Amino acid sequence: MNNRSRLCWGILGAARINERLMPAIVDASNSRLVAIASRRAGAAAETLAKYAPQQQSVRAYDSLDALLDDAEVEAVYLPLANHEHAEWTLRAVQRGKHVLCEKPMALTVPDIEAIEAAARQHKVVVVEGFMYRFHPQHARVQELIRSGIIGEVRSVRASYSFMMRPARLYRLAESVERGGGAMWDIGPYAIHSARMCFDSAPLAVTAMAKYVESGADITTSGIIDFGEGRRAHFDISFECARRSEYDITGTKGGVKCHTVWAMPGDVPIISWWTEDGQRGEERLGTANHFNLEIEHFSDCVLTGKAPVLSLEDAKTNCQTIVASLQSAAQGRVVKLAERL
Ligand SMILES: NC(=O)c1ccc[n+]([C@@H]2O[C@H](COP(=O)([O-])OP(=O)(O)OC[C@H]3O[C@@H](n4cnc5c(N)ncnc54)[C@H](OP(=O)(O)O)[C@@H]3O)[C@@H](O)[C@H]2O)c1
Repeated sequence: MNNRSRLCWGILGAARINERLMPAIVDASNSRLVAIASRRAGAAAETLAKYAPQQQSVRAYDSLDALLDDAEVEAVYLPLANHEHAEWTLRAVQRGKHVLCEKPMALTVPDIEAIEAAARQHKVVVVEGFMYRFHPQHARVQELIRSGIIGEVRSVRASYSFMMRPARLYRLAESVERGGGAMWDIGPYAIHSARMCFDSAPLAVTAMAKYVESGADITTSGIIDFGEGRRAHFDISFECARRSEYDITGTKGGVKCHTVWAMPGDVPIISWWTEDGQRGEERLGTANHFNLEIEHFSDCVLTGKAPVLSLEDAKTNCQTIVASLQSAAQGRVVKLAERL
């Protein structure tokens, strides 16, 4: 494959998650890493040396704007801090760059609407970075639902947690208004994976949270109403053992995805049961969802294909997170039809 069939990527931010995404860009057959930038002097070069040492021709900038001015950069991977996502996605779009922005794309729905309008104007692709969605295990879950084996989906339980290590405590340093806390960090996965199990948008949400001194939530649980008695229960926490799972119950049985945060070598397990006594446990092939995410994004830009994750989807996810935070803060059910 020659360079014209590869999308040229730049990375905006020397974030820790580059450990996964940088090799994914380097390894993708339809992608080429050309630049990385950080606002901290030397941090971009250091990240490059650490996660992609063989990529000596990649330019390392000590300014985010310098990367956006780099004409060779066609697409930007954006792993800045949560409260910076919307601002820098918009800036990149206005410079004509396609953007894969880490979740959450923004802290408000109007911010995503502004990104959407700019993306339309500049004719670029913008996607919220839910890497997990590209793992084939979720397609298998959807296939089981569609087969009718568990009947109609009635209830989903989505649980995501890990014990926060001292080195990562900065995630709790900012209030929820500034994108800190569990709901903006792991909440997006809980809401997104629960929504994937229903064929309609959430109608209302109720939630409870435990906060730390900064105003960040450390544990949040909630119920999302999808109408006609169909509910998703989510619980996320930085003070529980590691879980990244969702469990679906239908009118005739259930299916469970055991590890959403599957690491590249993990064997994914899907289990299912039916009321009439059938049981199944499927061990699927290993997959690297970071690689698949990058390949999909590049393919969409290069071929004009529509991304599987739309900005409409990003808005619905954001609206549900904001409603959950509002519900927890105010102790009331929040309807999603309300303007947030
Ligand atoms: N998809 C996934 O699996 C996954 C996993 C983890 C996180 N995430 C998401 O990815 C984003 C980044 O998360 P992360 O944990 O990788 O972030 P992080 O390491 O804290 O980096 C975020 C930004 O903060 C700045 N920064 C990093 N280290 C710093 C330091 N020591 N002092 C001052 N500033 C520093 C960097 O900007 P500069 O380089 O410009 O200074 C960096 O881009 C978040 O939005 C998160 O939600 C996704």
